[in-house]
Amino acid sequence: MEIRDLTADDLDAALDIRKRSFGLLSAADVRSWRATVLPGLPEGRYLGAFDGDRLTATTRLRPFTQWWHGRPQSLAGVASVTVSPEDRGRGLGTMIMRAALDRAVTLGDAVAALYPATTPIYRKLGFEHAGARHIVTLRAEDLRVLAPSQQVKLRRMSPDDAAEVISVLHRVHGAARSSGPISWDETIWRQWLAEEDDFLYLAADGFLVYRWSGGDMEVDNLVAGSADTAAALWSLVGTASSIAKRVVATVAPDDPVLWLLRERGKETVEQTRWMFRVLDLAAAIERRGYPAGVSAAAVVRVDDPLRPANSGVWRLEFSGGSGAATRLDRDPGDGVPLLGINALSALYSGVPAATLRRSGLMSGDERHDEVLDTVFAAKPYMLDYF
Ligand SMILES: CC(C)(COP(=O)(O)OP(=O)(O)OC[C@H]1O[C@@H](n2cnc3c(N)ncnc32)[C@H](O)[C@@H]1OP(=O)(O)O)[C@@H](O)C(=O)NCCC(=O)NCCS
Repeated sequence: MEIRDLTADDLDAALDIRKRSFGLLSAADVRSWRATVLPGLPEGRYLGAFDGDRLTATTRLRPFTQWWHGRPQSLAGVASVTVSPEDRGRGLGTMIMRAALDRAVTLGDAVAALYPATTPIYRKLGFEHAGARHIVTLRAEDLRVLAPSQQVKLRRMSPDDAAEVISVLHRVHGAARSSGPISWDETIWRQWLAEEDDFLYLAADGFLVYRWSGGDMEVDNLVAGSADTAAALWSLVGTASSIAKRVVATVAPDDPVLWLLRERGKETVEQTRWMFRVLDLAAAIERRGYPAGVSAAAVVRVDDPLRPANSGVWRLEFSGGSGAATRLDRDPGDGVPLLGINALSALYSGVPAATLRRSGLMSGDERHDEVLDTVFAAKPYMLDYF
């Protein structure tokens, strides 16, 4: 079995496995899939396993930016993990995923994330449950009545606004100290902003992407940096209330809209979970943001059989909102917490040490647990599915 980069000539075979794996695609979906996939091919972002000439498995690495405590870093968004049905159950999925994680490091990513269709394969590769995409259903009328306190200038967006949308995301997520949300690169934003059936609005400190979904409205992305912009964008969606009674909205778990509503009681939130992995421990610690007011240090022993460069005893130091990891040459013995790479990845994502200990993922000395919980505290989410 040979693993190599896919080229444009391999896309028909990749599409065939994709259909056998995820279901049929309309002609329009195939066109937008090709348009999304093509720019990544020369960068080596689509790997295929071949048995002779026959494509047997694929994995794709999408180039994202992800914010952690308000600080952006590059993220390998793992997608299109497919094995042809006749080759499943023989370790091929694991094999191509290992190659993809090596490739992500070569491309410069220190962290990776994915939405799992099944979790055992990814947990064995060091991914752990980290965050979710949250979807709530709101009453359109409740949104219509959210009036901004002053006039907010909104205008319709076009593909030429891609760079501005990315700039808004950097400003809003930086100021909000967000953890988890991602941005596509400018090429993909341009494609997305050209979607004919999406309604797109831009403000100075926010934007909105929404559409009809059956008789309901569906909000895909609503990001706002102020109360007035949040009210202006949500109330714009709410103006559909004479026709659409419900708004199905992707939101952050602490989304301001949930505090803007006049009434709030029983709420059903649907969560699509995503998993996360630290690929390069030292770089990942350095690229994350942390609470600026905390100066602290902790020592951890990490075990990562797949990426041995992460294994060992590390001193983690945090101050002024930044962090650094230094490998300790001298083994301190037993007085340190022990984490597999799954636990370290979950801890990085804000999963409390107590949860990791009580689920058997973390053991050893407990004296640094409170520091670790404080510096990595996060409620990570994503608005986007990939
Ligand atoms: C999921 C998929 C990629 C796995 O590929 P594969 O080559 O069969 O996986 P592997 O042989 O490397 O198996 C790795 C582990 O995952 C487990 N696994 C594989 N498919 C599974 C499934 N459908 N449900 C639960 N566990 C599964 C295996 O049992 C194995 O665990 P084990 O070592 O404890 O037995 C493949 O079945 C597939 O293409 N499915 C359809 C598309 C899909 O769901 N892709 C994933 C999108 S996130």
